Amino acid sequence: MIVLGIESTAHTFGVGIVTDEEERFVLADVRVKYVPEKGGIHPREASRLFAEKGPEAVKKAFEEAGLTIKDVDAVAVALGPGMGPCLRVGATIARMLAAYYDKPLVPVNHAVAHIEIGLKVTGARDPVVVYLSGGNTAVLAFVSGRYRVFGETLDIALGNLLDTFAREVGLAPPYVVSGKHVVDICAEKGRDFVDLPYVVRGQDVAFSGLLTAAVKMYKSLKGREGDVCLSLREVAYGSVLEIAARCLMQTGKREVMLVGGVAASPVLREKLMAFAKYYGVEHYVVPPRYAVDNGVMIAWTGLLAFKHGVRIPVEEAIIRQRWRVDEVDIVWRR
Ligand code: FE2
Repeated sequence: MIVLGIESTAHTFGVGIVTDEEERFVLADVRVKYVPEKGGIHPREASRLFAEKGPEAVKKAFEEAGLTIKDVDAVAVALGPGMGPCLRVGATIARMLAAYYDKPLVPVNHAVAHIEIGLKVTGARDPVVVYLSGGNTAVLAFVSGRYRVFGETLDIALGNLLDTFAREVGLAPPYVVSGKHVVDICAEKGRDFVDLPYVVRGQDVAFSGLLTAAVKMYKSLKGREGDVCLSLREVAYGSVLEIAARCLMQTGKREVMLVGGVAASPVLREKLMAFAKYYGVEHYVVPPRYAVDNGVMIAWTGLLAFKHGVRIPVEEAIIRQRWRVDEVDIVWRR
């Protein structure tokens, strides 16, 4: 079976083609990344770039795979969650391919895809999932047919916290230098902790108060910038790992897996390793290439779903900006 997948939820327009053959599951992986000149993602600008480069990316994916649309069994598309203007471009191209070439259309939830590609490439089987990216912070586990959210951010995501902080205090852009986030680089100069708000409410975390306090402190404590970065990072990662620990206890699972764009952080990987050792569980981290948004994860999740009968009529393939991960029945794991 061969499935083409389209990703366009935020800053990346990705086209992936995958098969269910063990040896070489990725046949094509094309990515177009929107990089804002300054500030965060501007959805309309990103969508304009996607509309301009999207059709070319699809063509390139077929060339890379040495296939044509005729060889594809289904077209999968990330219908949410994400930014409306961006999602609409991917959905339009996917609907067009499905309708014109008479191919089944498979809806994919972006967060589910992050988890499924993680399982596929790391070999984890039933982990507590720590999902950290620019737009998402959640701790999940598979229970009763769905990926249930055991804890999440009540305001901004962890990736957004680090990026916004770096931008506000003048450390970024660029946000990542030689594979390290600029906040991690700044934290290397840190020695002592400063007092920042650590917020875990019930099972959830909150970062906006931390962001405001850290920016204020960075600007006022001259000579202690490294201390502020170090403290910010420790508080942020610590609170997420605290809710992950609770999830391990509640579910009794024996594995923990890190997915999403922030999984590329070497510091966080180290922390997860120490965390797993402490709790006596196995740990897995999705490799950087598949930690960030890509079309392969949409194609792969689409393939799993399609094999189990998931497909929708083209006229029902409507984007869902706030499509929650726990609304999706994971039929392929029954
Ligand atoms: Fe993502």
